[in-house]
Amino acid sequence: MSKFQPAAYSPFHILLHWIIAALILFQLIFGESIEGLKDALRDGSTPDTATAFMGNAHIWVGIAILALTVIRLLVRTVSGVPAPLPSSKPQELAAKGAHILLYLLMIGAPVTGLLAWYGGIHTAEEVHEVAKPLFIILIALHVLGALYHQLALKDGSLTRMVTSRARG
Ligand code: HEM
Ligand code: HEM
Repeated sequence: MSKFQPAAYSPFHILLHWIIAALILFQLIFGESIEGLKDALRDGSTPDTATAFMGNAHIWVGIAILALTVIRLLVRTVSGVPAPLPSSKPQELAAKGAHILLYLLMIGAPVTGLLAWYGGIHTAEEVHEVAKPLFIILIALHVLGALYHQLALKDGSLTRMVTSRARG
C-alpha cells in the first residue's frame, strides 16, 4: 500500500476503472456465449462463426480484465489513492469492503475461468459460475453507494471517478 495519498485519482486510474467496468459488463451480458463453443468442441462439431467469435471474445476479454486489474493494483500501490470521502464509520467500512471484494472477483473470475477452460478443473468451473451473481450484487451496491454519495450527500464522489481535478 502506498504511503503517498494524492488529492485525486490519477487520469490513468480513472481510465482503467471505466475500461475494466465496461469489459466486466460485456462478460456478464454475453458470458453464456462461451457455453456454445464449449458444447461444439465437446461434440466434435465445427462451431458457427458467431459462436466461435463470441466464445473466443469471452476468453480474450477475460484475460484483458485480469491484465488490466493487475496493472491497476500496481498503479494503486505505487501512486496511492485519495482518502475516502467523509461519511459514517460503517459506511466507510462497507465501501472499503465492497472495493476489496470487487478486486477479488476481478482477479478470481478470470483465474477460475482459465483453470476451468484450459485445466478442465470442474470445481473452478463451479466457482466461476458463482462469480456472476456475486458481481451483479456487488456492482449494484457499488453503484447505489456512488449515487447516494453524489446525489444525496453531494460530496462529488462520482465526479472524482470522472475527472482527476481535485475539488477546491
Ligand atoms: C472477469 C472475467 C470474467 C467474467 C466476469 C466471466 C463471466 C462469465 C459468465 C457470466 C459466464 C456464464 C455463467 C452462467 O451463465 O452460468 C461465464 C462462463 C464461462 N466462462 Fe467466464 N468470465 C470471465 C473470464 C473468463 C476467462 C478468462 C475464461 C477462460 C477461458 C472463462 C471461461 C468461461 C467458461 C469455460 C464458461 C462456461 C462455464 C460453463 O460451461 O458452465 N471466463 N463466464
Ligand atoms: C464492473 C463494474 C465496476 C467495478 C468492478 C468497479 C470497481 C471499483 C473499485 C474497486 C473502486 C475503488 C477505487 C479503486 O481502487 O479503484 C471503485 C471506485 C469508484 N467507482 Fe466503481 N466499479 C464499477 C462500476 C462503477 C459504476 C457503473 C460507477 C458509476 C455509478 C462507479 C463509480 C465509482 C466511483 C464514484 C468510485 C470512487 C469512489 C470514491 O470516491 O473513492 N463504478 N470502483
